[in-house]
Amino acid sequence: MNVKKLVGEKAAEFVEDNMVVGLGTGSTAYYMVEAIGKRVQQGLNIIGVPTSKRTQLQAEKLGIPLKSVDEVAYIDITIDGADEISSTFQGIKGGGGALLFEKIVANYSKKIIWIVDESKMVEDLGAFPLPVEVIPYGSQQLMNLFKDKGYAPVLRENEEGKPYLTDMGNYIIDLHLKKIEDPHALANSLIQQTGVVEHGLFLDCVNTVLIGSEKGVNIRHVRK
Ligand code: 5RP
Repeated sequence: MNVKKLVGEKAAEFVEDNMVVGLGTGSTAYYMVEAIGKRVQQGLNIIGVPTSKRTQLQAEKLGIPLKSVDEVAYIDITIDGADEISSTFQGIKGGGGALLFEKIVANYSKKIIWIVDESKMVEDLGAFPLPVEVIPYGSQQLMNLFKDKGYAPVLRENEEGKPYLTDMGNYIIDLHLKKIEDPHALANSLIQQTGVVEHGLFLDCVNTVLIGSEKGVNIRHVRK
């Protein structure tokens, strides 16, 4: 069974006529965008706000009307994937490299839904490397600083062995932290570091989590 497809298609059912919908990025979000595209072709009237060039291209091909985050007053609902979700429903995102746009779109969303398979549900965050988007200038200094802090940083590379570039032309440093004891303290310290654009800790923001497994989709309403 394709669990990502199952959960992505279930999430598309949360979209209603006349909504402004934040469209996430990643292999699970892919199926959600496909399912929304199908509904649009059948007459659903929505505006999509894509969180990456990749999702934008996919949505355009499906005929989903799109606007950028700056062209809408707010977003009714954003549906996105996640890399890890803790027992208190804090998240790590950015494995797919779209964390900056994803966080901006999330910040202006009335409701956020995360779609994952059950392997993403963990007790504490940190086994998944935490992505940190940084500007290229001074990035080696940030690597040194993170190394000194014991964060085991790795500069993300593309298939050619060159630094991976985000949609904004930034680098990503993945922090191999194993276990994040205090996500809020870490988030605060990372965002204060000059050169850091954004980090992949998405805290206190998700409303609903759809957890897919071979048994089906478990819907957890986390906060209003
Ligand atoms: C992209 C993301 C993705 O949502 C996250 O990496 C999960 O992706 P996938 O569904 O492919 O496992 O944050 O920046």
